[in-house]
Amino acid sequence: MKSKKTQVCIIGSGPAGLLLSQLLHNEGISSIIVDRQSRSRIEERVRAGVLEWGSVEALEDAGIGERMHREGLPHSGFDLAFDGDLHRIDLTALVDKRVMVYGQTEVTIDLIARRLKQGCEIIFSAEEVQPIDVKSDAPKVRYTKDGETVEITCDYIAGCDGFHGVSRQTIPQDILKTFERVYPFGWMGVLVEKPPVSDELIYANHQRGFALCSMRSPTRSRYYVQCPTTDKVEDWSDARFWDELAVRIGPQVAANLETGDSFEKSIAPLRSFVAEPMRFGNLFLCGDAAHIVPPTGAKGLNLAIADVRILSRGLIEHYKRAQDAYLEAYSQTCLKRVWKVERFSWYMSTMLHQFPEFSGFEKRMQRAEFDYLAGSEAASQALAENYVGLPLEM
Ligand code: FAD
Ligand code: DHB
Repeated sequence: MKSKKTQVCIIGSGPAGLLLSQLLHNEGISSIIVDRQSRSRIEERVRAGVLEWGSVEALEDAGIGERMHREGLPHSGFDLAFDGDLHRIDLTALVDKRVMVYGQTEVTIDLIARRLKQGCEIIFSAEEVQPIDVKSDAPKVRYTKDGETVEITCDYIAGCDGFHGVSRQTIPQDILKTFERVYPFGWMGVLVEKPPVSDELIYANHQRGFALCSMRSPTRSRYYVQCPTTDKVEDWSDARFWDELAVRIGPQVAANLETGDSFEKSIAPLRSFVAEPMRFGNLFLCGDAAHIVPPTGAKGLNLAIADVRILSRGLIEHYKRAQDAYLEAYSQTCLKRVWKVERFSWYMSTMLHQFPEFSGFEKRMQRAEFDYLAGSEAASQALAENYVGLPLEM
């Protein structure tokens, strides 16, 4: 068996693992990243699109701000729509902050390029990845590649391997508590090479279901519609998608909708999930490995970045100043914030989707929530404060 050594072994080359590796490298701390997927698969995945400003700053710190600032689209507000009525959430006026529209795909491409250029070892297409001895002072990550088994010995393991990864499964069942809500619908998403229907994002609740108008650039749009979990991508021809989207966003907005052939189509399920604690021995869970939010409100990627900012601070304090207070508090610090973000994502999802089990009462509650937001600056401000991103600690 071949062996390697590093300070922090990172499982997962998604945004969480890559950013952690970069923030550690900036302080002279070594890491190796192991991922089961190929580089091209990782770089082709289309996922989130909105960065909180705290995430923008973390990516600047990581040294990948240049293309993001050149190609990303700063947004100072977005629209909520309810059966055709519009209410603008003016982020700048309400909380004096903005967000950045820049795709997760681009963030990942930028981070991989920078990490490789700086000589970081990223092992793609690794098989049978397994954290071992995580409670010892010399934990290891074992994997197989090209028929050869390799063991990486390290001080700490960061489990950044997403919801379906192995890291969380390493924590014994009598220690790990999980909390879950699965929603009775998914999001059907398309990418199209056409200008966005509006300069701002639009989150719409319509009797036929939720719709979201987003974008990736001034010429590339990203749209989603709520669909049953049983639907398949093949059930949604482009024509059906455009007809449904136009109905849900209403005639006033749909008048500007430019349709075309979609070049990416996927269905994502909606889930709320939290695993506690986020540390076991010398294994730390980050991002989707520890928690999932439904995408309404664009928090999944941002939450992963927040975890990594908190963990990197703890590791840097450990290596630079032999102080472990931040590391000791990692799980507690993250979970306090995680639950607030879970609450916001659940709130946005509940307000904006059609639930099969909802009676007339719950539907009136959704409408009342929208009307309250539209008539109350305080309510809009609370929503805006969450949308632009809560502070790391509050
Ligand atoms: P991931 O990006 O999942 O990265 C985990 C990495 O670990 C992957 O590269 C994976 O290959 C690797 N891995 C997994 N298992 C193993 C293993 N056993 N061994 C080694 N490596 C492993 N959020 C939004 O805010 N808006 C959206 O529109 C949105 N859409 C989404 C659509 C989909 C289909 C999915 C799955 C998620 C979406 N999200 C969205 C959520 C957002 O993309 C995630 O929160 C974000 O990717 C979390 O980053 P991460 O680095 O924690 O995990
Ligand atoms: C996008 C995704 C989201 O979940 C969201 O709330 C806003 C935008 C997007 O993919 O562009």
